[in-house]
Amino acid sequence: MRKLLNKLLIKFGLLITKAPTLLSDKSLATSDAFPAELTEKVSVVEASETPVNPLFDIFSADTNVHKWHHYFDIYTKHFGQYLDRPIKMLEIGVYRGGSLRMWKDYFHPDSTIVGIDIDKTCKDHEIADRNVFVRIGSQADPHFLAEVNEEFGPFDIILDDGSHKTHHQNISFGALFRPALKDGGCYMVEDVHTNYWLKHVDSEDTFIDLSKQMVDLLHEPYFNRKETHFRHGHPEAVHELKLSYLAANLASIAFYDSVVVFDKKTRYLPTSELR
Ligand SMILES: C[S@@+](CC[C@H](N)C(=O)[O-])C[C@H]1O[C@@H](n2cnc3c(N)ncnc32)[C@H](O)[C@@H]1O
Repeated sequence: MRKLLNKLLIKFGLLITKAPTLLSDKSLATSDAFPAELTEKVSVVEASETPVNPLFDIFSADTNVHKWHHYFDIYTKHFGQYLDRPIKMLEIGVYRGGSLRMWKDYFHPDSTIVGIDIDKTCKDHEIADRNVFVRIGSQADPHFLAEVNEEFGPFDIILDDGSHKTHHQNISFGALFRPALKDGGCYMVEDVHTNYWLKHVDSEDTFIDLSKQMVDLLHEPYFNRKETHFRHGHPEAVHELKLSYLAANLASIAFYDSVVVFDKKTRYLPTSELR
């Protein structure tokens, strides 16, 4: 009943924030399968030190950039593989331009950094002679995203640090993952804690909801099949399957506190071997 009401509210453009109780489905529910020791409340204290991380040093040297400290280890873990060559990066959300400069200083000097933002004043943060470009438009506008991809893409890295509205995160991922992210590329959505803050939730499925569904999609090859279908040299082995684009191109999904990371890679059929 609640889901239906949610659907109707969204269909008629009513902000779900006006009906916060409708989100009670999303309250923290833990399965009975967890032993009590794992769900018992324990203390978590603030970190006594700032991150020890080369990107954090670049971040600290500039101003007008807003990032959470714990993201720096996530950035360097996932972006470290792109440091040895010029790359193309798209960041959704320019704000005061500091993050575009930070990425420019972090990646190979011949890299192209593109920022998009709905705020026209962000254009001032373009540094064209350093290959830092800004285009003005909405991350919720697939035509605008296609134009940006046409002009600069496809990208090695796409980072969504835009409006943090759930339907914007969903639309941008839907519009960009296939055409605008290279094979071997990385799509990162940050600040997904906002998916648990009512004022940002304006879609029936949040981006976290979609991400959880993509965990299932990663395993699509196995739906309605058995191990011998994948066994090397077995008479029942299948040699080709029709899978969704996501299942065929998503290598991994990594979940962190407030960040979800998707690695894109052409997949082959899984093969098992008994030796
Ligand atoms: C969190 S700030 C970006 C911070 C910046 N990346 C940084 O690290 O300093 C979010 C930005 O998203 C922009 N924004 C809001 N709605 C947007 C939309 N629909 N499309 C694109 N950008 C949007 C805002 O104007 C704002 O500049």
